[in-house]
Amino acid sequence: MTLSNPPELSSIPLSHLIPLILALLLIYIITLFLYRVYFSPLSHIPGSKLAAATSWYSFYFDALKIGRYFVEVEKIHRKYGPIVRITPTEIHIDDPTFFNELYNVTKRLDKDPWYYSWLGRNGSIFAMTDPDQHKLCSSVIKKAMSTASISHIEPVLKSHYDVFCRRLSECKERKNLVPLSDMWRSIAVDIITDLAIPESFNLLETPYFGAAHADFNRHITFLVPLLERVPRWLLALKGRTALNVIDEIEHQKEQVKRLIANNGKPISGKNYPVIMNEVYASDLPAKEKTVKRLCDEIGILIGAGSETMGHTLATITYHILANPNIHKRLKDEIRRSCEEAELEDVLSYKKLEGLPYLNACINEGLRLATGVSGRLPRINKSQVTTYTSLSNKSYYIPPGIPISMTIRDMHYNATYFPSPRNFNPERWLDPDLKSKSEKVFAPFGRGSRSCVGKNLAMAELLMGIGNLFGRFEVEMDERETRGRESVELVHDCFSPFVKRSSKGVVVRIQ
Ligand code: HEM
Repeated sequence: MTLSNPPELSSIPLSHLIPLILALLLIYIITLFLYRVYFSPLSHIPGSKLAAATSWYSFYFDALKIGRYFVEVEKIHRKYGPIVRITPTEIHIDDPTFFNELYNVTKRLDKDPWYYSWLGRNGSIFAMTDPDQHKLCSSVIKKAMSTASISHIEPVLKSHYDVFCRRLSECKERKNLVPLSDMWRSIAVDIITDLAIPESFNLLETPYFGAAHADFNRHITFLVPLLERVPRWLLALKGRTALNVIDEIEHQKEQVKRLIANNGKPISGKNYPVIMNEVYASDLPAKEKTVKRLCDEIGILIGAGSETMGHTLATITYHILANPNIHKRLKDEIRRSCEEAELEDVLSYKKLEGLPYLNACINEGLRLATGVSGRLPRINKSQVTTYTSLSNKSYYIPPGIPISMTIRDMHYNATYFPSPRNFNPERWLDPDLKSKSEKVFAPFGRGSRSCVGKNLAMAELLMGIGNLFGRFEVEMDERETRGRESVELVHDCFSPFVKRSSKGVVVRIQ
């Protein structure tokens, strides 16, 4: 018997070839899905089968619906418990008792390169995955942000709060409404750009308090890597916002060129060390001082230093103004602690840092705002991770798998924070409640990758809230502000973003 040769592909008519390819593709997809759900090393982890089968599920909510996957993840937890699979390769845990175990200084965990590359800033300390490279590159920035360094730059902070207070007084005189959410973001940008690069953006001095910058951050930050590749004329068709993004990136590149040309000498006109100049002048190897890496670092410092701050300050302001008793008690505390003459000038954070009620309001705002809403995935490359649930069931997660947790889950956990959505500064005044709350309070993250800007952030928060309520009579404009929606997380773009149509918190100064 002779075997006939199989037909050559080219001899198969197109009308048969296409269905054949489609059938093979379908078989491949079904096999892949079945493998992921039932046979992969993660198949023992509970969760939605669809999320385990395909990343398109999370893509749909995070990319197409813009940062909405966190809502689905919450739903998956409600249905399946504290440990769930949220993509074919990522495990998410909602259990406050596990946070310290995952995010701790002694464990050498990598950040998940896929998750942290979404901003296209891979050269920054924020997105670096390798712990050794991170340790080396972050040391200069950490030193510049230490408690001692921040106390030296108090005059810089004062000069920006001086502009802030002047702009508020102008609004008072002209009876103009104050777009406070925009102002908060803008002062944060002005401060970090003043401290980190040769030239501050000075957004507070612009006619609309830097609203365009806030708009850029709020709407299209996640598209930046894409936008950088699109010709300018094409972007112009989409209006001013996209062009503003590109202009800002160009501006950042200019700043880097200035730094390089300056060759590590002190920046003229500034009597304090400029962070990125210190990075350039440091003994880091040359490969850590390329234009691309320095640009990435600047972009992250500006983004990390402004969105988190802006959202937290807006959240604190909203809740204080929405609760007349809290508002009155805070005003009284600040004003009683100052001489009449002191209130004529910007209040320093050293003056304000000892005030218990102000600190309690700030903690409660940091809790509710959760300035980083992203899910912080970490990878243990070499060891199995064991998670044991409260019901004493253990799960083993193989090395190399991203495991994530969300700070917001802890901050809104009703066991630790009864009535978690209420703004209740008392949680931080009663010693027992405080020690219970502190266990799961981590607005700046924990471990080796926690926030390098924490000291600066606390100084800005104290000065922002202290000066606003100590020196001004503030009233919320109910029509423009539209209630809690002005500060409520709707889009998780790593930083929390409110409803796109919201104007944020808008006030008037009496
Ligand atoms: C209320 C204000 C702030 C909050 C709530 C906040 C929160 C956080 C959190 C949770 C992380 C850890 C992120 C992760 O694990 O991936 C982080 C990292 C970081 N933050 Fe902040 N932050 C704030 C202000 C600032 C400021 C003012 C700066 C300015 C320099 C800053 C710069 C950074 C940087 C560079 C990182 C990356 C650290 C690293 O991976 O080594 N943050 N922040």
